[in-house]
Amino acid sequence: MVNKQPTRVLMVCLGNICRSPTAEAVFRSKAAALGLAEQFQFDSAGTAAWHIGKSPDSRSQQAAVKRGYQLQRLRARQVTAADFAAFDMVLAMDEQNLANLQALQAETKSKAKLELVLHYANNAGLTSVPDPYYGGDDGFNQVLDLLESAAEGFFKLQAS
Ligand code: 4NP
Repeated sequence: MVNKQPTRVLMVCLGNICRSPTAEAVFRSKAAALGLAEQFQFDSAGTAAWHIGKSPDSRSQQAAVKRGYQLQRLRARQVTAADFAAFDMVLAMDEQNLANLQALQAETKSKAKLELVLHYANNAGLTSVPDPYYGGDDGFNQVLDLLESAAEGFFKLQAS
C-alpha cells in the first residue's frame, strides 16, 4: 500500500468550545469507523481568544457523549496564520468565521482548502452550523446532527 501523508483537517468556530471540538470528534470517530484513521488528522481552533486552554462546554460534552463522542480531553486554542501552513484543509463552522479565516489566510502563501463544513452536508438546508452557546439543549443536538451529516458527505467524497 502507498504510504501517503495523512490529510490534515482543522475545524474552526468562534470559541473552540462548542462546534469545532464537536466537529473534530465526530470526524475523527467517523474516520476510525471507516478504517481511515491513518489517512486523516483532525484538530480544532477558534477565531476568538476568550476560551484558550479551556475544556469544551459541558453542554457540548454531554450531548456528544450520548452519541459516543468524547470531548473531555480537548482544549481550546486560537487559530493562527501558521495553521494555514500546517493544515491541508480548514473547515469553518459559519460564514463569519469563514470571513475571518479568509483574511488570515490572505496574510500567508497557504494553498490550504478553506471552506464551510456544511458544504459537505447533504440537504442540511443551512450553510452555517448555528452557534449553540446562548441557546438550549436542542442547539447542541442540532450541532451534532449537522456535523454527522457533514462527516458522512465528507468521507463519501474522499472515497469517490
Ligand atoms: P463555539 O461557541 O464558537 O461553537 O465554540 C461559542 C462559544 C463561546 C462564545 C460564543 C460561541 N462566547 O461568546 O463566549
